Amino acid sequence: MRFGEFAELARIAESDPEYCTRRPSWNSDIRWISADTMAGFATFQSAFDRIDVARHTREFLDLESQVRLYAGFLHTRSQCSEPNFHVDWSLTNNEAFTLLTPVCGLGDGQSLLYKKLTGEVAEYTYRPGEAIVFGDHFIHSTPPGSSDPPFTLLVFNFGTDKMNHWDKIRKTTGTQCRLIRRPDGQFSRSERPQGNKVDNSAVIPEMSESIGHSEYLCVEREIYRRAVELLEADVNDELVALDPARGNCFGLNAVAKDVWRKLETPKSFNDLRAELLAEYDVSEEQCAEELKALLSDLAEKGLIAAELQDGSITD
Ligand SMILES: [Fe+2]
Repeated sequence: MRFGEFAELARIAESDPEYCTRRPSWNSDIRWISADTMAGFATFQSAFDRIDVARHTREFLDLESQVRLYAGFLHTRSQCSEPNFHVDWSLTNNEAFTLLTPVCGLGDGQSLLYKKLTGEVAEYTYRPGEAIVFGDHFIHSTPPGSSDPPFTLLVFNFGTDKMNHWDKIRKTTGTQCRLIRRPDGQFSRSERPQGNKVDNSAVIPEMSESIGHSEYLCVEREIYRRAVELLEADVNDELVALDPARGNCFGLNAVAKDVWRKLETPKSFNDLRAELLAEYDVSEEQCAEELKALLSDLAEKGLIAAELQDGSITD
């Protein structure tokens, strides 16, 4: 199965602290399941890369260098009693898109309702190995019906890597997930939205109110820990490491090696930064920037994971 890892995840995610489950206050039992750690995010990034979303979409985007995945999550449901028409994106100049593709539970057919420009309701039927992608002002809804076993979609929010579009894009991405990635590649967290403000309403874009997103929390609020055990060998200033579980080999430069060693015990971003500032002749700002990039890189490689200091999202 093409997305076998996600079919399993949809089944077990609610009991796995590495994942975040949100439920919109719609007429349905829809659950959105997303990664709550950078290592988990990498699972969605891997699928995004595997089906090469970037190659199919880059010509439609204003890019610095690459198509950015902001969030990946599963949408799973077994019943819906009434449609809930809404738009995902509004006024982003089509610099951000949603991709939906079925993972499991397709059965005899599952579909998406949408409105044509005439206002007439039409229906798109999901097919295995096919995805639907849409951007600004696409009015759509889950259709009423039931599904046993539950129907599960893999969803990507993705688009430009330019930060000047972020203000518009952030109004949508982060509603279904907590951990998100900004256009510049930095990870942030969104607070849980109010249940009744989960999505944009399907009104004329200029008239639509932005939804009640709260401020994003920065990675400084997180505790970083090692996610794997490595076999290590010092080679001059560098570290050559093997992940025996996955058979991957890594070369860590002097600073990365230093940070890896410091993470023998979990540490907050601020603690790591303070220790590095004491050892390296570098400005506070540069240190923070480079540490963020390094942690992001280590997380992408699956070497470290992050969690909130108190395990929850507050102020
Ligand atoms: Fe939607």
